[in-house]
Amino acid sequence: MTTMHTQNYRGTYHFSPRENWMNDPNGMVYFQGEYHLFFQYHPFGMTWGPMHWGHAVSKDLLTWEELPVALEPDEHGTIFSGSAVVDWNNTTGFFEEEPGLVAIFTHHKELPDTGKVTQYQSLAFSKDKGRTWMKYEGNPVLRHESYVDFRDPKVFWHEPFSQWVMIIACGQTVCLYRSPNLKEWTFASEFGQGMGSHDGVWECPDLFPLPTKAGGSKWVMIVSIGDNPECVEGSRIQYFTGEFDGERFVPDARSKGEARWLDYGRDNYAGVTWSDIPDEDGRRLFIGWMSNWKYANLTPTEGYRGAMTAPRELQLEQWNGEWRLIQQPVREITKVQKEVLSLSQTTASEASAKLSSLQLESYEIHARIYTAHDIGFRLQTGSDEGAIVGWNRTEAKVYVDRSRSGITNFHPDFPGVHSASLTGLTGPLELRILVDRSSVEVFADEGRVVITDLIYPSGVTTGVSVIAESEQPVIESLAVYDLSAGIQTVSMTGKEK
Ligand code: FRU
Repeated sequence: MTTMHTQNYRGTYHFSPRENWMNDPNGMVYFQGEYHLFFQYHPFGMTWGPMHWGHAVSKDLLTWEELPVALEPDEHGTIFSGSAVVDWNNTTGFFEEEPGLVAIFTHHKELPDTGKVTQYQSLAFSKDKGRTWMKYEGNPVLRHESYVDFRDPKVFWHEPFSQWVMIIACGQTVCLYRSPNLKEWTFASEFGQGMGSHDGVWECPDLFPLPTKAGGSKWVMIVSIGDNPECVEGSRIQYFTGEFDGERFVPDARSKGEARWLDYGRDNYAGVTWSDIPDEDGRRLFIGWMSNWKYANLTPTEGYRGAMTAPRELQLEQWNGEWRLIQQPVREITKVQKEVLSLSQTTASEASAKLSSLQLESYEIHARIYTAHDIGFRLQTGSDEGAIVGWNRTEAKVYVDRSRSGITNFHPDFPGVHSASLTGLTGPLELRILVDRSSVEVFADEGRVVITDLIYPSGVTTGVSVIAESEQPVIESLAVYDLSAGIQTVSMTGKEK
């Protein structure tokens, strides 16, 4: 059966702005029943331009209501990336009556005559659940005398020392600062020289503890690295594990060597985590910008450009003597899953026959496959196209092949195969594949390997099929869930998109 695929690439359960350009997620904070998602936004154009903070809220991380722009450029410059926190104890003095939100962001100013760039850190606060914002009159609150790239402050409350801690990108390193009140900052330490990847400028860091199964916690640092024309991968996210003593981050031995990537796809950048998730929830929730600076300004969407990844929960696991980050889509997603197919012990051709009757654009495939065979799921397929999520048994690799996934010619580095090794599997390989019109997110082996890739099907599609050379039952189990049911993204006017 064929489905007329409209040129609508907008995902149903991924956030995208109603119109115009979006990049990094900013100011993610949970407050009074709402998850806030601010974002780098150019409200007057389809490409990157003078940055504002756009704003959306959600109660379930899947249905987003876009609100008016929260922060606009002012005499100090445009509004680059940053974070937001709840000032529970009125450390700032902004909130005499009840706790409110403080945004800590970078002001970016380019002098028109010389082109000289200045980046410094500023505050804004809101007393009405993020609906309106006041800029702090003492802005900027933090400058650096030598770094030109000095941006993307991520702030958290550090209970043991009753202090705020800021991690901020400083060109090719990150710096840590401390403050009692968010207004006065003292330098604490610098990290990064000789560590991880320096293929691009360091941006959008985050630092947080994650509980371990053995009790206690381990610190994780996330650092995005910008595009470098010489690296085909473009912009991507690396992470480090280690200890933080309130001043200094000390990496584990393994974190000192080669970079470790948070995602093996091309489209997960500038991701950071939510602040102020209540203790009784206890999760560390992450979202990234689902694009890549290599081609972000060229992607073939109409009316809007840019989407976020699915929100994910981060966890740590010890494996072969090292700590590694694992990711899973947030559990809220299971509440909107509508099962449309369930098979077990089946062959590729039998599965394909059953899948051919489905016409889904926004769905999840949950499969367990036998790793003795090569196997691939062809997604969003047209007569001569389809993205493939597969397992290569000779190389023990999971991959997404988007070489023939539809429109790929807007940048020479867009088409290609993106893979990740998965060794040490003892049973069938578990794969969760989230598809939402123009995105594919693969969570392999319970989130130990993640691949996030955009795709742009060119027209008519016929859905999903399974390819395998073997006639054996290559699939232990296969479930498909429709994810479009029950989700609607609400726009600024309250109308359904
Ligand atoms: C990362 C980034 C940040 C900066 C913002 C500007 O994608 O370059 O470092 O604050 O985008 O929009």
